[in-house]
Amino acid sequence: RHIALIGAPIEVGTSEPGALMGPAALRTAGLVRTLRDLGHTVEDRGDVAPAGLAPGATGLPAVAAWAKALSASVEAALAEGAVPIAAGGDHSLSLGSVDGAMRHCARTGRPFRVLWLDAHADFNTPETSPSGNVHGMPLAALCGEPGFTGLFREPSPPPLDPRHVHLFGLRSVDAGERALVRARRVGVTDMRAIDEFGVVAPLRRVLEQAAAENAHLHVSLDIDFLDPSIAPAVGTAVPGGATFREAHLIMEMLHDCGLVGSLDVVELNPFLDERGRSARVLVELVASLFGRRILDRPSHSEALP
Ligand code: ARG
Ligand code: MN
Ligand code: MN
Ligand code: MN
Repeated sequence: RHIALIGAPIEVGTSEPGALMGPAALRTAGLVRTLRDLGHTVEDRGDVAPAGLAPGATGLPAVAAWAKALSASVEAALAEGAVPIAAGGDHSLSLGSVDGAMRHCARTGRPFRVLWLDAHADFNTPETSPSGNVHGMPLAALCGEPGFTGLFREPSPPPLDPRHVHLFGLRSVDAGERALVRARRVGVTDMRAIDEFGVVAPLRRVLEQAAAENAHLHVSLDIDFLDPSIAPAVGTAVPGGATFREAHLIMEMLHDCGLVGSLDVVELNPFLDERGRSARVLVELVASLFGRRILDRPSHSEALP
């Protein structure tokens, strides 16, 4: 496959500095080389440059400048037939990457689905947010909740249908967003469900639904989906996350389904890392998503009917 790596060193969506070093750390950990070794062609398109961003700008206006620039480069990469990887940067960057992928699908007529691998729902509005941090709000904005203006390029497509979003790994939800997630019927596999059923059965259901309509699946991987013991480089760590093995299995299933059309890797904060280990784990996970397997032969589960 053709892969376009797009850096989005944005941290205005969070109050913990350091995420702007994320794209550099992912490159240093060998993201491009690792994907090329798997046989893909990888084009590193550098970091997006937001237009007209005043130095020191904060909040929604600053996020909007980043989102518009990233949306345009993600849409362009998809139009060229590449799989864009948006490397962050805090999770507000998904305002741009999801918007760009959504526009591409609106143009090609392909159904669009989002898999949000995250400890958090990121479904706050400026009204419900306890922190005011925009990285806790991108899904609400993408799904057309009120309180967001000027975030997207004009004319903007219809908002994302919240029932086409699946939160996977959820374990930290604020009171106001909890009500919204329920009212809007966002798909959810929380850690309770994962403890009870494992990752395979719930994920298989999500992927079967996407496969039934041959959807473009956008995967948004927040590093805090992982347990902080394997990926400590995160500003919003929540205990009880996915294990190394669960995470790799998820990535392998995502590869096998063949539907992943775009990917975000977000919230890596290298300033909080331990000798690069979190960045390395993310690179390994992306490799699994792009086809790395333990042996070059069908695994036991593939051999079963
Ligand atoms: N729910 C909290 C908030 O709104 C935390 C959000 C964390 N989001 C993230 N992308 N890490 O502030
Ligand atoms: Mn396409
Ligand atoms: Mn997030
Ligand atoms: Mn999170």
